[in-house]
Amino acid sequence: SGAASTSTGAVSAATRTKGSDPLAFDPANYTTLTTTVATSDGDKAVTYRFFKAVTYVADPVDVTYQSLNVSVPVEIDGKAVDASHAPIVFSNAVGGYMPSSTAGNTGIGQGVNAKLSLASGFVVVDPGARGRTLVDTAGVYYGVAPAAIVDLKAAIRYLRHNKGRVPGDTDRIVATGVSAGGALTSLLGASGDSDRYAPYLQELGAADASDAVFAAAPYCPITDLEHADMAYEWNWGTNPLPTGAQVDQTLSKELRSGFAEYQASLNLRGKNGFGRITARNYDAYMVKTHLEPSATRYLGALPDADRAAYLTANPWITWSGGRASFGWGDFLTHVGARKKNVPSFDTFTLAAPENNLFGVATTKARHFTQWSLRKATGDDGARLDADLPEKIDLMNPMYFIEHQNPGRSRHWFIRVGTKDSDTSLTVVGNLTAGLENLGDDVDTYMYWDGGHGANQDAPDFITWIRSVSG
Ligand code: DHB
Repeated sequence: SGAASTSTGAVSAATRTKGSDPLAFDPANYTTLTTTVATSDGDKAVTYRFFKAVTYVADPVDVTYQSLNVSVPVEIDGKAVDASHAPIVFSNAVGGYMPSSTAGNTGIGQGVNAKLSLASGFVVVDPGARGRTLVDTAGVYYGVAPAAIVDLKAAIRYLRHNKGRVPGDTDRIVATGVSAGGALTSLLGASGDSDRYAPYLQELGAADASDAVFAAAPYCPITDLEHADMAYEWNWGTNPLPTGAQVDQTLSKELRSGFAEYQASLNLRGKNGFGRITARNYDAYMVKTHLEPSATRYLGALPDADRAAYLTANPWITWSGGRASFGWGDFLTHVGARKKNVPSFDTFTLAAPENNLFGVATTKARHFTQWSLRKATGDDGARLDADLPEKIDLMNPMYFIEHQNPGRSRHWFIRVGTKDSDTSLTVVGNLTAGLENLGDDVDTYMYWDGGHGANQDAPDFITWIRSVSG
């Protein structure tokens, strides 16, 4: 919000083709806006430069999505700030793997992390990206996998290509996003500079620059999709549906046994001497490493009377010496209804968002696990389409963690709510352990009783950026 003091538009295609560098950022092409940001220190009045709808590839497929906005604070509460070397918060707004355009925005995106970042003196980039439902006049789906991650990588390359022209420190890009946007954030973090995306980037005329990001802050990432049905049944298999009924326990148990095999193959170790994490001890890993610390922090911060009331309502939690303890089974009962049926992601009817994500050409939706493909078709010899294995890898941060991708982020801030059954809590558990096992700096915390999309410690996100980029 706020008044524009200069009038500008996006760099026109004509301007871009005339210049020697079609991907040069124009530092003079901005409007000056004002906004008020609510912070833990009260409201902050921010004046910022807004660079709108900048196309980030030389050969765009759809500029509505392949463009980004840059917001640069110049004055906070009447005090001049210089953000020319500040961290750059790259905040994607993707949800549901849907198309995400910021080209029509009239100011900085509304995400709490983005606004708080601006009020903290950081540069904020709001990128658009193609998404799964986009279809052209010939009926071709042009936003299916791996379009969204390719676009976001192209946007990162654009920023790094414009080092010194674009405000902020392009070596201190912090990616963040929620849910599908959290998945893409973890993928940006894990897959930095992987040459496996090269043909896709080249086709778009992406800048020839690094697409590595310095740090990544995914919230409730809906990722590791080809293992998500198995993981979901390991986690929520016996929880009731919202109707009160249980899902088909034969299917659930079959998937659950698949998870045991997958988990063994990851060969992950839990921190603080937990040792190897298997399907057999994952409940203990969850409880000791993530859930009890979550409940402890939540209950510890409550006023005494509120904590006492919570503990009376939840007698399955033991509170002793300032620490919460409980069992996995009681935790599952406490969470209650699971959000999704079995299988949750690669559905037999091809109705899940993820089936559409793995569409191709004029095919809207496909199976992306052999298990669902075979169950759905009744063909025990059925195989995934030949183009799929690569696309599945390109959408999965675990692939790049398993391959110890050297271009990955070394700093991570990972969050999910303990009541979020959009996917299995093991997704964050394995992302965390995988990165920790590589020696990376990982700050993972689960919000106690938090639902899908929870963000309950935004000031800590800012503190974390300052501490890792200082
Ligand atoms: C999102 C949520 C889901 O449950 C899912 O399967 C994919 C994406 C989301 O909120 O982005």
